[in-house]
Parts: sequence; structure tokens; C-alpha cells
Amino acid sequence: MHRIVYKGVSRRSLLRGAGGAAALGAFSAMPFVKARAADPVKVGLMLPYSGTFAKLGENITFAIEMLLEEKGGMLGGRPIEFVRLDDESDPAKAPENTNRLVSRDEVDVIIGTVHSGVLMGMIQVVRDSGTLLICPNAGAGAATGKFCAPNIFRTSFSNWQPAYGAGRQLGVDGVKKAAFITWDYAAGQEAAEGFKSGLEEHGGTLVQTLTVPFPETNWQALLAQIPSLGVEAVGSFFAGGGAVQFVKDYQAAGLKDQIPLTGSGFLTEGTLGAQGDAATGIRTALHYGDGIETERNMTFREAFLARTEREADVYAVQGYDAAQLLAAGLEAVGGDMDAEDEMIAAMAGATIDSPRGQFTLSAAHNPVQDFYLREVQDGMNKVIGIAAEKLSDPATGCEMG
Ligand code: BEZ
Repeated sequence: MHRIVYKGVSRRSLLRGAGGAAALGAFSAMPFVKARAADPVKVGLMLPYSGTFAKLGENITFAIEMLLEEKGGMLGGRPIEFVRLDDESDPAKAPENTNRLVSRDEVDVIIGTVHSGVLMGMIQVVRDSGTLLICPNAGAGAATGKFCAPNIFRTSFSNWQPAYGAGRQLGVDGVKKAAFITWDYAAGQEAAEGFKSGLEEHGGTLVQTLTVPFPETNWQALLAQIPSLGVEAVGSFFAGGGAVQFVKDYQAAGLKDQIPLTGSGFLTEGTLGAQGDAATGIRTALHYGDGIETERNMTFREAFLARTEREADVYAVQGYDAAQLLAAGLEAVGGDMDAEDEMIAAMAGATIDSPRGQFTLSAAHNPVQDFYLREVQDGMNKVIGIAAEKLSDPATGCEMG
């Protein structure tokens, strides 16, 4: 276990009971205050509510609130109190923001975040404090790899996974040479690695990776290089506002009909209204798509639309499932978060009945799931096949203590 335990009491419980880190030194003289059953569980929502990923953070939040309302406002018999924090997708502020939630706001759980660099800035704080973290998007591999821990869970994906699916599909389709273009930060780098693995295991070669700094959108010089690379396809990782711009610029550069664009499905997720015809025909791989006609998904989509006047997307699904995972843990222990080991075991062993389809978690606490092949048709990411079935992240370096 990576949780720091003082005489059988976790540091998180200690901080909550004593009112802050300053009290740690006075532990022996201090009574341990146990949360009463009716006390709210404090959930920190550390998400981007501004910048290029703002809409992603909003949809995650709306879906978490929706699940809670479906459960009558209580999980495991405890009311839930949210503490919201805009992380601005700024990795430099992540440790301080996480500390604020843990030490000042004394949250019991953090649901966060979207940006991989911010997630990596949160990891040390939650590992040291033992605070339960459920990641509803950011795919940084190390969170469920080298820095995996019993109290760290993810209901989304690792960056490697969808990109592996996209690369694999190209290889299966007979593509021999491809390039990859992305933002130069953890998510983009790991997506490029996943794309390369999927493509090269299936007979193709990744000839070049092109990058721009996050969150810049000045990729014109890179687009100009692509025709000279001699590639049959271009893989990519972009999301949110940047993805809208990239897909439009790819078309405007005259590349769309020459060299098919593909990649992790965030490229066309929650963005189609703004991308318009520039996105039509683009094939991507993702663990969600349109036209999954299960009752579970249709009910979810209708409820989300009615609540938010927005079509649901993968971000909403991941947020909803983060709340479902928390519910599974709290319900297993009747809301008693001091029963940490039982709660963690229930979460690790849960089967989540997600709108994307049911999924379980790997030993590293990352979803094992299908990655759909989607094609943009009539303004939808229509599921047309499976790019990678029951795909698990390699979880390199994970030793769950
Ligand atoms: C990430 O930084 O991990 C990420 C951001 C947006 C969409 C997908 C992944």
C-alpha cells in the first residue's frame, strides 16, 4: 500500500480529523474524529473549466451530477458535497491545487482530471496523503503504470490505448507508411507510442512524428511538410478546441482528400458541430461512439441531453462512470470511508455498467475495454467495427504494493 498509515489510521483520516497537516506532530494527544454516517462525503472536482478543455470538464461535471441525482442524491447512504476547482489544464499549478483540496478543503475523494500533465502533478499528493483519486479522463500512462497505487483509479483510458487501436486498424487495412501529429506533452507522446505499436505489430511503419507545443494551434509549417513524407495516412492526437481547429486546417491545407487523417477518437469527439464537413469521413478509434443502440446508452444519452441541452460524448460517459465507480465503493461499505481496504477492493473488482458497454478494471485500475472503429457520417461518429477488442494497457512499471 502507498497510503501512509500512522498507528492504523491513514494520514487522510488524520488530516480530516485533526483539521490539517500542522496537527500531525501532535497526533498522540489528539482524539481521532470519525465521520458520522450522515456527514456528506466531500468530493473534490479538479477539472478544467477554462481554456481549450473547458467543455470536457463541464461535460464530466454534468454527468457526475446526473448520476448522483439518479441515485437520489446519496451514495452508500451518504450525501455528497462537491468542491469545484478549475485546474486550467496547467500542470505547474497541479500540486498546489491538489494540496488545497486535500489539506484546506479536506475532501475525501478527488475526481480529476482531463490533462495528462495535470494528472501527473496530482499523483504525488494523492499518493502521500492516501486520498482516493478517480481519474475521469487524463490518460497519462504512469498513473496506472509506474505510479499506480491502491487509491488511484481511472474510468477513461490510457493514452496508449485508443491510439494503439487506430494504428492497429491502419496496419490491418494494409497501410505500410504513416506519420503522426500531436501536441508535445505526455498525452501526445504516449499516443504516438501506442499508434506506433498498433501499426508496426500489423505490418506498417511510423516514419515521422510531428509536434507543436500544447495548447498551440500553429501547425501550418507541419501540415506543409506532410506531402513530402510519402505516407499513406496520418495519425493524430488532438482534443477539444484544438481538435476543432486541426481538422479544419487539415482540410484547408488540401490534405483531407489526399492522405486520410485518423487517430485517437478525441479528434472528432464532442467537436463535430464546430468541425462541420471538414470532419466527414474521418475514421478514429475510441471506447465510445454514436449508434451504440443499447438501452443503457440510449437512456443515458436522452437524460444527458434533457439535462444539459448537449449531446453526450465520451467525456460525459467517463464522468458518469467515475461517479458509478465511487458509488460501487461507497455502497459496498455502507458509506463508511474508514473501511478503506474494503472500499478499494469493491472498486477494483467492480463491473461498471457503462453507456459504452460493460467494463472491468485491470490490476493497475485502468479500464479493459473495446475500442470502436468510428467513421464520421452525417455529423456523427458512427461505430463501424472494433479496432481493438478487450484492450488492456501494458501498465509498464506498475507494482501495486
Ligand atoms: C490528456 O491530456 O490525457 C487528454 C486530454 C484530452 C483528451 C484526451 C486525453
